[in-house]
Amino acid sequence: MFVCRKFLIIPCILLFVYAWRRRRKYLQGLLPPVCGYSWPIVGLAHMWINGSLCDPVDSTVIGSSFSEKAYLLEEPVEELFGNSLMMTPSWQKRRVVLEPVFDQLCSQLDVVNQQSTDMVKELAENIEDDSFNWSSSIRNMVIKTMFATTFCATNENFAKYIDLFKQAIDDITDTLFSIHSNVFMHNKVLYNFSKLKRRHHNGTLALNNMTDEIVIQKKASLKSKLDNSDDQKKTVDTDKTLLDYLLELEELGVYPEEDIVKELIAMIFSGYATISNTVECCLHLLGSHLEVQQKLKKEIYEMYNGSKRNVSINDLKELVYLEAALMETLRLCPPVSMVTRVVDKEVQLRKYKLEAGSKCLLGIYGINRNEVWGSDKNHFKLERWLNTGSKIPYLASYGFGERSCIGKQLSLNILKVILVHILREYDVSTNGKVLKLKQELFVGPASQHIVHQRASYSQAENV
Ligand code: HEM
Repeated sequence: MFVCRKFLIIPCILLFVYAWRRRRKYLQGLLPPVCGYSWPIVGLAHMWINGSLCDPVDSTVIGSSFSEKAYLLEEPVEELFGNSLMMTPSWQKRRVVLEPVFDQLCSQLDVVNQQSTDMVKELAENIEDDSFNWSSSIRNMVIKTMFATTFCATNENFAKYIDLFKQAIDDITDTLFSIHSNVFMHNKVLYNFSKLKRRHHNGTLALNNMTDEIVIQKKASLKSKLDNSDDQKKTVDTDKTLLDYLLELEELGVYPEEDIVKELIAMIFSGYATISNTVECCLHLLGSHLEVQQKLKKEIYEMYNGSKRNVSINDLKELVYLEAALMETLRLCPPVSMVTRVVDKEVQLRKYKLEAGSKCLLGIYGINRNEVWGSDKNHFKLERWLNTGSKIPYLASYGFGERSCIGKQLSLNILKVILVHILREYDVSTNGKVLKLKQELFVGPASQHIVHQRASYSQAENV
């Protein structure tokens, strides 16, 4: 009888200690993101997410030596992105054409300055409201910024599409996550008869149709400008959108007309959730690390001295503490938590060999929190990015090698402008709540705790 009780009591105690420690770690924000609504993480998956199977050296070797991407479920992804850069077999040629376009887009900050100014005004109107939804305000401004950068900066005819675009993208993002996380959907037959496929198809169709209409209208308006006036033959460079550049490249015969719609969709889709989630995570981290926020506000205050002027491209280079805050946010909260590669020839890694034809998942979340970052790998510590004599480990948040994110610099510029606008007017806090992450199609905050109040610059001055 005694032995029997011992057998029951000891496992119960152990289980209790395990659950208690796990809960504590979770509350401290040290556990991997919850997948969906607490998706069970089975087998070795937790090791992979935690970093044990995310060797940064091996992952960087694979990520930069192999450029072909693999998709767990090709059909829905292909339906959405068509033959855009992400999917086209001739991605190399496409990148050569698109990279200079992105270099141009990076320096056009008017749109994001304007959208950020509007958002900050919206915050002012809601300053008293504790239930104010930061997330939706941020997401609205980011979709407007992405929309304007992609299609048009000012054209009012296009404004009616913005909300519809946001709805369609939000819906497709949810649907794609449901499709990937439902094991039955990995069977083609079941997928083809499923509601999820219809939902995905309808969302994609809506995006295609809207984008198609915008492209047609844009072509017509460019043509009428050309017909009407010689002076207006060229859009002023600073106003050019991705669509303008693609139409020019098409005319030069270096970009296929039939891929324009999908390219535009892929760009908005790639930028919207990644930028929104990063802004939210960064504000959350700053709101729970007030000493970091104060130093950052001091840097911003010294640059703007109370002025509400637009943020310029030169300002961005000097805001080093802001850059560090963003890098650290992207390290701890990479919106894209994994990437894939096809290994097309045998490769010897540190501990094992991969055969030609293998497909690999490279776990960005785990790589970014690997031991190489030090014993404080889970902490929000900006110093690791500032004046480091030693080499900083590779930050995997934008991927690897030739296929790494083409929107990296554009997104960093947009993120910095948004944060300057918010932080020069507001202090943010999270009432002591620690940031917890959630893995859906993109990694983002599991809940919202950001509150804001008018900035207290005098405090910042005293740092
Ligand atoms: C915080 C913001 C962003 C993050 C963290 C991010 C992250 C990533 C990652 C991890 C990849 C995969 C790279 C690889 O496989 O090695 C990627 C690819 C890509 N990203 Fe981003 N991204 C961001 C913003 C953007 C923006 C704003 C755009 C466009 C406007 C964009 C467009 C793309 C495209 C087109 C690809 C595919 C590139 C290719 O296949 O060659 N991204 N991004």
